[in-house]
Amino acid sequence: MREVIQYFEANFNKHVEELKTLVRIPSVSFDGFSPDEVKRSAKAVEVLLKKSGLENVRILEINGSHPYVYGEWLKAKGKPTLLLYAHHDVQPPGRDEVWVSPAFEPSIRKAQGGDRLFGRGSADDKAGVVIHTASISSFLETIGSLPVNVKVIIEGEEEIGSHHLREFVNTYKDLLQADALILTDAGNFDMGVPALTVALRGIVAVEVELRALTKTIHSGVWGGPIPDSAIALCKVLGSLVDEKGRIKIPGVLEQVRPLDKKEQEELNRIPCNEKTFREQAGLLPNVELLKEGPSVLSQTWRFPSITVNAIQASSRKQSGNIINDSAWAKVSIRLVPDMDPEKVLKLLQDYIARQVPWGLELNIKVEAASGAWSTDTSAPIFNVALNALEKGYGVKPFKLGMGGSIPFVAPLTETLGNVPALLVGAEDPYTNAHGENESLLLSDFKKACLSQIYMFSELSKR
Ligand code: BES
Ligand code: MN
Repeated sequence: MREVIQYFEANFNKHVEELKTLVRIPSVSFDGFSPDEVKRSAKAVEVLLKKSGLENVRILEINGSHPYVYGEWLKAKGKPTLLLYAHHDVQPPGRDEVWVSPAFEPSIRKAQGGDRLFGRGSADDKAGVVIHTASISSFLETIGSLPVNVKVIIEGEEEIGSHHLREFVNTYKDLLQADALILTDAGNFDMGVPALTVALRGIVAVEVELRALTKTIHSGVWGGPIPDSAIALCKVLGSLVDEKGRIKIPGVLEQVRPLDKKEQEELNRIPCNEKTFREQAGLLPNVELLKEGPSVLSQTWRFPSITVNAIQASSRKQSGNIINDSAWAKVSIRLVPDMDPEKVLKLLQDYIARQVPWGLELNIKVEAASGAWSTDTSAPIFNVALNALEKGYGVKPFKLGMGGSIPFVAPLTETLGNVPALLVGAEDPYTNAHGENESLLLSDFKKACLSQIYMFSELSKR
C-alpha cells in the first residue's frame, strides 16, 4: 500500500494534466451542441482507460445514445467486483463573459480553499472519471495488480437525464454485473470534509411554449387588442408558487413523505449554518431564504423545489418594440421520497394548461422524469466506505443526502440485484457546477483519489 500511495502522490500532477485534457473537450450533451464533441470526449476517455491499464476497453453505444465508455480489470480471483461509474458529458457553459477564464480552457487559480481547477466539467464530472483511472493506475503501475476486480462505465448523457439508461442496463446487464457500485458524481460536505451521499432528489422537467400570433409584430401598431405572449407566460409561471415560494400545484406537496421523529432528529444532527449556506450559494444580503423543515441544508434533499431554468421571448439584443409571437420557458421540479415522477408530471402539465389566459396556444414538451433515490446503509460495505473516506481526507465523513439527481443510480442498482451503491465525489459547496466558473479544489481531488485507493484495498480484506 505504501508503494501505491507514494506512487500516486508522486504522479498527482500527471492526473491533473489528464483531467485538463478531458476538460478541453466541450462535451455538452444537450441538443444544439455538437454530438461530435461528446464522441471526441468518449475517445479521450477510452485512451485514458487504456493508459490506466484497464482491459477490454471500448465505446458502447445503443440506439442513437451518446457514447458510453467501458473498461475492466478482472484478475483478482475470488475478490469482489466493483462497478465504477462517472460521466464525461457536461452542462452547457453558460455566459462567456461571466467566466473569468474560458469554460473549456482549464486554468488553475487560488480561490476558496487553495488551488482550484476552473473549467466546465472540472468537477462535474470529469474529476469523477479521473478518480477512477488514477486510483486504478496507481495499483497497476506499481504492484501490477488490483486488490479487487473493477468494471468502469463512463456515461455520455447524464446531464440530459440518461435517456437510454433502461435500454443500456438491460442490454449490458451481464457485462455490468458487480457486487457494489461506486459513483464518483456526488460531492463533499465542505472543503476538506468528505460525505457519503445516501439520498438524491429526482427531477421532472417540461418546456412550455405559449403562442398568440403566427408572427412577431409592431407593439405600437397592434398593441392593445393583442394579448402579449410573454405576459401570459409570466402569469402561468407566477401561478406555480404561493407567496412563500412553495409549489402551489394541487396534489404535488401532498405526495411528500412526512418527516417522522427519528428522521427529524437525524436531520437535526447535520450541522447547518444559514450564514455559510447563503454565502456558499451567493445569495444577496436582503434576499429571503424560503425555509422548510429542520434546516435549509436538509431541505435541499428532503423537500421538493420548483425552478424556471430558462425563459425566452425575444432577447436583450433583439428587444425591439415588438409583441412577441410566442414565449417559452423550461420548468423543473425536484422530487423527494414518495413523490411519483409520472404523477407530478401530469399534475404539472394539467395545472399549466388550466392557467393559460386569453386562449393562447399551449405546447408542452416533457424533458425528463426520474424519482428520488435513497439507500439503507446497514450493509457492511458502507462502513468500509466511511473508513476509506476518513483515511483519505483525515476527517470524519458525513452521511447525508444531496439535492442533485443521478437518474442512473436506481435502475442500475435494481438491475444488478439491489447491490449497494456508494456515492462520493470531489465537488464542494464552492464548486458551482452547472453555473459559470465551475471549479475543483485540487487538494480534495487528491483526497478523493486516495480514499478510493484505500477503498480498493480495504474491500479486498473482506
Ligand atoms: N453530479 C450531479 C448530481 C449531484 C450533484 C449529485 C451534487 C450530488 C451532489 C449530476 O451530474 C447532475 O447534475 N445531474 C443532473 C441530472 C438531471 C439532468 C436529470 C441534475 O441533477 O440536474
Ligand atoms: Mn451535473
